Amino acid sequence: MKRLPLWITITGAILMTMMTANGAATKSGSITKSSFGKTPDGEPVDLYLLKNKNGVEVAITTYGGAVVSLKVSDRNGKLGDVVLGYDSLEGYENDKAYLGAIVGRYANRIAHAQFILDGKTYTLAKNNGENSLHGGIKGFNKKVWTAKAIPGKYDQSLELSYLSKDGEEGFPGNLKVTVTYMLMDSNKLRIEYSATTDKKTVVNLTNHSYFNLAGPGSGDILGHILQIEADKFTPVDSNLIPTGELRDVAGTPFDFRKPTAIGGRIDSDDEQIKLGGGYDHNFVLRSWEKPSGGTPVARVVERKSGRVLEVWTTLPGMQLYTGNFLDGTTKGKGGIAYTRRSAFCLETQYYPNSPNQPKFPSPVLRPGEHYHAMTLYKFSVEKQ
Ligand code: GLA
Repeated sequence: MKRLPLWITITGAILMTMMTANGAATKSGSITKSSFGKTPDGEPVDLYLLKNKNGVEVAITTYGGAVVSLKVSDRNGKLGDVVLGYDSLEGYENDKAYLGAIVGRYANRIAHAQFILDGKTYTLAKNNGENSLHGGIKGFNKKVWTAKAIPGKYDQSLELSYLSKDGEEGFPGNLKVTVTYMLMDSNKLRIEYSATTDKKTVVNLTNHSYFNLAGPGSGDILGHILQIEADKFTPVDSNLIPTGELRDVAGTPFDFRKPTAIGGRIDSDDEQIKLGGGYDHNFVLRSWEKPSGGTPVARVVERKSGRVLEVWTTLPGMQLYTGNFLDGTTKGKGGIAYTRRSAFCLETQYYPNSPNQPKFPSPVLRPGEHYHAMTLYKFSVEKQ
């Protein structure tokens, strides 16, 4: 049957409707835009709602490029939110947990808040003990991004861009960053990261979504079953800085090569678990050396809802963070208190402190080069 796309624009909304040749309308994906308020400087902030043909929807704010909500089906076809977030802009302005945000210019930690490039030392703010964390005091999670909605036939995209000026938060080079969220009709959320620079710099971009596949407010995530395709992880010191060693996961609580409950070993008497207060570690993804040919780098199953999350990435590492610092003082959507281990993050990344670890994959970006990374979250269900 021949389908003719018909574009209809309504106030502040872009809706795409597919018309069949005989005029019967079958709804396709859509993108709608609404106001999310203004920053104290008077800068307008928007909220974009991307929906696919199955009703799966993701709301993204231009403030920090944060994923505010992500609604996917359970095994009975009931849509439910699976990420932590805030109802209002104020929540994001006050946020200290990076809920759903784009993190940069350098996600995760840089030891002693400094690094050297071509013999020059660059000094950053120490916003995590002695170290720099997640791009500094006002990282990419606290910036208002410029948005462009790109509706498609089978996918709905939001392109966010930001220019990080030379010297911002101590990093060298004007960095032009684009992050594109694409919600596909196949229930995948694809995040594409691109950047160019005019001076040699370091770049590590991620998304800091906190997932609870049973829904925020449904308790801890210790029963979620996790699998990670990693034979090694990067053990840390007491400041959560990698020691430089790539340690075998075999025989440790970090062995997720077979599906294992997140909580199974989270309180074990293991030095690394104790240092992290649970899991707060980078996994060395096997796919970086041997491209996975279709196998996800991680798979999470929540048995009650039947929801399944699979992750693919082009990046070398992934931080498993089990919300150990959430302490219930942060109130999120609907006034829900986000308690310890009530969500998990799978932050795809260059390894923490790579700028100071020559043996780790290099996060250095030079003028003329193009930083490009892709991470994909796929949602499905498992029957009982
Ligand atoms: C990352 C870090 C954690 C913590 C969270 C944000 O996952 O590794 O230690 O800082 O971000 O709270």
